Amino acid sequence: MGAFDVRAEARERFATEFDCLRYDSLEALLAAPAIDAIYIATPHGLHSEQCIAAAKAGKHVLVEKPMALQLPECDAMIDAAQAAGTVLVVGPSHGFDEPVQEAAKLIATNRFGPLRQITAFNFTDFMYRPRHQVELDPAQGGGVVHNQASHHFDILRRLAGQPVTEVTSLVGSWDANRRGDGAYSAFVRFRSDAAATMTYSGYGHFDSDELMGWISELGHPKDALQHGAARRRLTAMHGDEESRAKLARGFGGEAGTSPDPAAAHEHFGFVLVSCERADLRLMPDGIWIFEDDRRHFLRLPSPSGPRAGVIDELVNAVEGLCPPVQDGIWGRETVLCCEALARSSAMGRAVSIEEIKKDKEK
Ligand SMILES: NC(=O)c1ccc[n+]([C@@H]2O[C@H](COP(=O)([O-])OP(=O)(O)OC[C@H]3O[C@@H](n4cnc5c(N)ncnc54)[C@H](O)[C@@H]3O)[C@@H](O)[C@H]2O)c1
Repeated sequence: MGAFDVRAEARERFATEFDCLRYDSLEALLAAPAIDAIYIATPHGLHSEQCIAAAKAGKHVLVEKPMALQLPECDAMIDAAQAAGTVLVVGPSHGFDEPVQEAAKLIATNRFGPLRQITAFNFTDFMYRPRHQVELDPAQGGGVVHNQASHHFDILRRLAGQPVTEVTSLVGSWDANRRGDGAYSAFVRFRSDAAATMTYSGYGHFDSDELMGWISELGHPKDALQHGAARRRLTAMHGDEESRAKLARGFGGEAGTSPDPAAAHEHFGFVLVSCERADLRLMPDGIWIFEDDRRHFLRLPSPSGPRAGVIDELVNAVEGLCPPVQDGIWGRETVLCCEALARSSAMGRAVSIEEIKKDKEK
């Protein structure tokens, strides 16, 4: 095992925490024969180039979402992995959360009849966490569209087991002092006659973790009394303090600690799946099932480790046991869905995925 980051403090911390080598360049990391697979967790704009370099070096790749911002970049990543015969997985995203995967299996059995609709919403303080400028710039994939709707689309597609065909949306930028896309409401159609609504607000007012038993997105207990803390901290920052706070929160930074293992599963807010004969509500510790005449709880075992779902998917694919669900083609489709969401809002009409594909392929 080993790591490369442009920041020396991140390299040092990784080498110390995981008792492994640090490399001074990506080229040196990619040249290491002992390294089979690379996790690329750099800013969006670097994913494509680094992923292609890794595939050319014969390394399997787990690349963060969004895999890229443009379709030709996604295609080049997929082609590079195919040419090299290496695995490409896009994640982690909340499509890998255990309750999502278990609910998807239940839906696929048809035990509750066909899927009819999904209701998904998440209310967070996304807009007030310390950020680099680019993270709020829509032209560079900043804001909630590529960062957060990618999670929502992965959850919906994993649950539905079928592609999204059309999106109608309104993206919101509500805070004149904090420019950037911070919210969306969207109506999503699937290939069958099922539909979903997905809503996100990152404006730090209501916190939908309240509906998840005050368990945070990463599966840890959360203190309800911390309401408004992110906004207060940000308001008190001046000059380059925000950039420094962002670096401090990152790996190797003063404030960047590795949390204790989570007792509950990760989640992305409220998700309710309506099949013809039952509603399934996803929780951090299981799934509530509401049938015609009974409600019961399917408790899930605690997580076996952080991000176990995505690691299992990568390892199983590398060992040839099972092809990944969230591969490059999957990640490309998620990029298209996010693009449809942005375009629908800009044009004030429904936008089909086919329309985006045709335009991008011109
Ligand atoms: N899956 C999730 O839930 C989740 C959560 C947060 C971020 N992300 C994704 O992870 C990616 C990084 O986001 P972030 O918020 O951690 O960003 P960040 O800026 O905090 O961290 C990026 C890291 O990449 C390093 N880096 C920058 N340029 C580099 C280069 N050329 N070579 C090697 N290392 C380089 C930085 O020093 C930093 O350590 C984004 O694509 C984001 O969408 C995913």
